[in-house]
Amino acid sequence: MDNIICEVMDMYEIAVIPGDGIGKTVTSEAVRVLKNTDLKFEFQFMKVGYEVFKKVGAPVPENVVSEMKDTQACLFGATTTPVSVPNYRSAIVTLRRALDLYANVRPVKSYPVRGCVRDVDLAIVRENTEGLYSGVEFETEDSAFAVRVITRRASERIARFAFNLAMRRRKKVTIVTKANVMRKTCGLFREVSLLVAKDYPEVEVNELFVDVAAMNLVLKPQTFDVILTSNLFGDILSDEAAGLIGGLGLAPSGNIGDNYGLFEPVHGSAPDIAGKGIANPIAAILAAKMMLDYLGEDKWAEQVENAVVTVLKKGKHLTPDLGGSSTTSEVTEAIIAELEKS
Ligand code: NAI
Ligand code: MG
Repeated sequence: MDNIICEVMDMYEIAVIPGDGIGKTVTSEAVRVLKNTDLKFEFQFMKVGYEVFKKVGAPVPENVVSEMKDTQACLFGATTTPVSVPNYRSAIVTLRRALDLYANVRPVKSYPVRGCVRDVDLAIVRENTEGLYSGVEFETEDSAFAVRVITRRASERIARFAFNLAMRRRKKVTIVTKANVMRKTCGLFREVSLLVAKDYPEVEVNELFVDVAAMNLVLKPQTFDVILTSNLFGDILSDEAAGLIGGLGLAPSGNIGDNYGLFEPVHGSAPDIAGKGIANPIAAILAAKMMLDYLGEDKWAEQVENAVVTVLKKGKHLTPDLGGSSTTSEVTEAIIAELEKS
């Protein structure tokens, strides 16, 4: 990911939101890695999520968004969104909308790990503010409804983001919709995407319906470069794609708007392994790498990624999700040791 928006600075103020469960563990590992670069950071720790909700009654306390706006970017862990609590609104969905982080970018790249499909290098660009996650839902006695909001404005800016990204990659965009069935909503997304495509004559454009896209991701993932899609489809396809390259422990993401970027692993708070010290920190460390790209610190971004790749290749320090028996902090320490050699 190389959407450079900020100007390179002497010191970066970074909001750090660990969140819940393994979010807390992996975020502090990513911060450790950043502290082992030559760059200067001031980390502002902020609390959001389910644990905060239990204390103060809101998953995102009022002051958080304005405090985030005083920083250049955010490193986010993961938060729990309990389905059993009525009317609970996901903290990350709230932040994405409050900060207008309209582009969710999820690079999916083959790394040297067992079971990883080779030669995959794609990026899912997912509209992040509306679609089926618009939060507009209502119910009658025996029915429940979700409103799928698709606007021309949001479709246009996400399409432009995807095509700009494709120009810096292999110049290929696959537009993924279900426009044959959802004729109005996917129809508008598709129409706007194809209009934007006209401004990028160098970019090869393909279209797939989401069900076929899901299959092709398994059968021939190497054929994709940039996948442009709406909110729910992008969420599902990105976990599927993460499964190709070794699982959620290796999958980072960026939530990017015109003025701010929030970087997080694709995974959630993983209550099944929280507190056991075995969460894979690499997705969060690669999210920090994406943040370095965003800040224009290409050299350090590359060095962090190289250190991760070396540790994976050596295969001596791997967490159980990758077939190893190392702890979270042992993996981080191995990555930092490689970083120090670079
Ligand atoms: P999850 O991503 O937390 O976990 C899915 C599976 O992957 C679990 O078996 C977990 O142990 C494993 N896993 C995830 N990350 C891992 C890592 N770094 N190392 C090793 N194994 C890892 O998804 P799940 O279980 O559906 O959701 C748990 C909670 O997280 C829910 O409350 C959900 O709403 C929330 N969530 C939050 C997200 C966010 O804050 N951005 C994103 C996705 C889910
Ligand atoms: Mg998800």
